[in-house]
Amino acid sequence: MKDIILAKFEEVFGSASGAKVYFAPGRVNMIGEHTDYNGGHVFPCALTIGTYGVARKREDDKLRFYSMNFAQRGVIESSLQDLKPYKEANWTNYPKGVMWAFEQRGMALPCGMDLLLNGTIPNGSGLSSSASVEVLTGYILRDFFGFDVTNQDLALIGQYSENHFNGVNCGIMDQFAIAMGKKGHAIFLDTADLSFEYAPIQLENAKIVIASSNKKRGLGDSKYNERRGECETALAELQKVVDIKALGDLTEEAFEQYQSAIGSEVRRRRAKHAVYENQRTIKAVEALKKNDVKLFGELMNASHVSLRDDYEVTGVELDTLVEEAWKVPGVIGSRMTGAGFGGCTVSIVENSAIDNFIESVGRAYQEKIGYAADFYVVEIGDGPRAL
Ligand code: GLA
Repeated sequence: MKDIILAKFEEVFGSASGAKVYFAPGRVNMIGEHTDYNGGHVFPCALTIGTYGVARKREDDKLRFYSMNFAQRGVIESSLQDLKPYKEANWTNYPKGVMWAFEQRGMALPCGMDLLLNGTIPNGSGLSSSASVEVLTGYILRDFFGFDVTNQDLALIGQYSENHFNGVNCGIMDQFAIAMGKKGHAIFLDTADLSFEYAPIQLENAKIVIASSNKKRGLGDSKYNERRGECETALAELQKVVDIKALGDLTEEAFEQYQSAIGSEVRRRRAKHAVYENQRTIKAVEALKKNDVKLFGELMNASHVSLRDDYEVTGVELDTLVEEAWKVPGVIGSRMTGAGFGGCTVSIVENSAIDNFIESVGRAYQEKIGYAADFYVVEIGDGPRAL
């Protein structure tokens, strides 16, 4: 990969002398969905697929971007004097947003750069290709200019740029999972205070299989921000009767006790999901520590049901993938992952069942939805690095 992207950099930008190669992973969330903006827990892991980048400092303040995934767009130019989001700037709004966020924090960039990207994460699949680009950009800026920021800061800067430059009110999960990724481990993160622990994922006879619905999803135009608003309103209603900072502060019992304070049936279901999903995530990590993969899988299944019925972020594509997966012998657990409304499912599948899983879920999906799903057997990888 390194040779391929260096050769492409040379072709696009004239020469590759002085250019350096970097990588940042994508992520998949095992459980804990739509909890990260509710002060709850998440359990994501970084993947070995991700974004490769070649970068080189410039002597002026120009920015030149090229993505092998959007080759038809050619070189997109900008400059440090113009760190503003434009629709036609397309994917370059992600690296530009991170540059802007560094400057917002008083870390002015001394010069521009040429940046070429090649992502191995399917675009729009919900495996966080945009957060991967954000963390990659932050990593490059730190490496180039020696800024005093930790990997955790890179996650926060990425999230800040996503929220304030790209207009998506996302939580911290994606950027954190990518910036802090560790091979063979998922990250049990408490989004209330960013305390976390690494939990090894040792699946003896099974693998993590991702199924992409191939239904494209843009977070910005989805109902993501609407769900977040519903949770905020529900929280404000609950705060009139109970002293909490976030929905994640409630146990299931406390939720049942106070839920009548929430003024609409829809918001009650949204809040219920946030509370129960957080508790499920805590239980799932406990189960994993006891090597109870079966219980972990059952909690994954329950997570999907809650996202389907109470949070309503699945849709026929994701439901078909998951409900077909549940029918396949050897599937330990299956659920949608990420924001929803399209994107991917994550399943734990016994090794001997993987071929049949891909075959039968793939066939049923094609029949019902009318186009194919894609399947990826994935490995849990490390965080960002120079190659
Ligand atoms: C997207 C957001 C995350 C998180 C998930 C849902 O991936 O970027 O912050 O809210 O959706 O769990």
